[in-house]
Amino acid sequence: MLDHLKANNRAWAQRKVSADAGFFKRLVGQQAPEYLWIGCSDSRVPANEIVDLDPGELFVHRNVANLAPPQDANYLSVLQFAVDVLKVKHIMVVGHYGCGGVAAAVDGKRRGLVDHWLHPIREVYQENRQALEAITDLPARLDRLCELNVIRQMRNVASDVFVQDAWARGQEVSVHGWVYSLATGLVTDLNVTIHGP
Ligand code: CO
Repeated sequence: MLDHLKANNRAWAQRKVSADAGFFKRLVGQQAPEYLWIGCSDSRVPANEIVDLDPGELFVHRNVANLAPPQDANYLSVLQFAVDVLKVKHIMVVGHYGCGGVAAAVDGKRRGLVDHWLHPIREVYQENRQALEAITDLPARLDRLCELNVIRQMRNVASDVFVQDAWARGQEVSVHGWVYSLATGLVTDLNVTIHGP
């Protein structure tokens, strides 16, 4: 079962060792990534590949529609470990244009549990309804909602007590908002970086 994936894995590990004999040995010793990536689960948005970083260089949390819900124990555990233990310097909330989760949040169809997960996006939509509905092109409107969702999730990250406490003790950590384009492979920085309380 899945023999092609196991073969891929062996070939990948071999390539890594060929290029750098000590690669895996070093990683066993420690991980010291400077970045936490909070992104979408979408298979077309592979965190490490997009920013061309090796294992050990990027701490990653992904879920449907790149949310940072302040009651989600999974996200909070990742955030606390990244900030308190790894002491990452940068946290990137990374949305992507054409996000199916963002579209599903506001298309009015019922899907079950995921409707609850996506509730924060409907709130973002309601808070920005006038500006969004002024955009008549639906894909463009949804792309704008992707950006607004990133900014809203950044606020959750920056206002979280783990991040606030880090700033209070003088630790340097910035929260960035990015959106990735499936069509070009390029990241756009929304230029709304938060550096402190
Ligand atoms: Co998505």
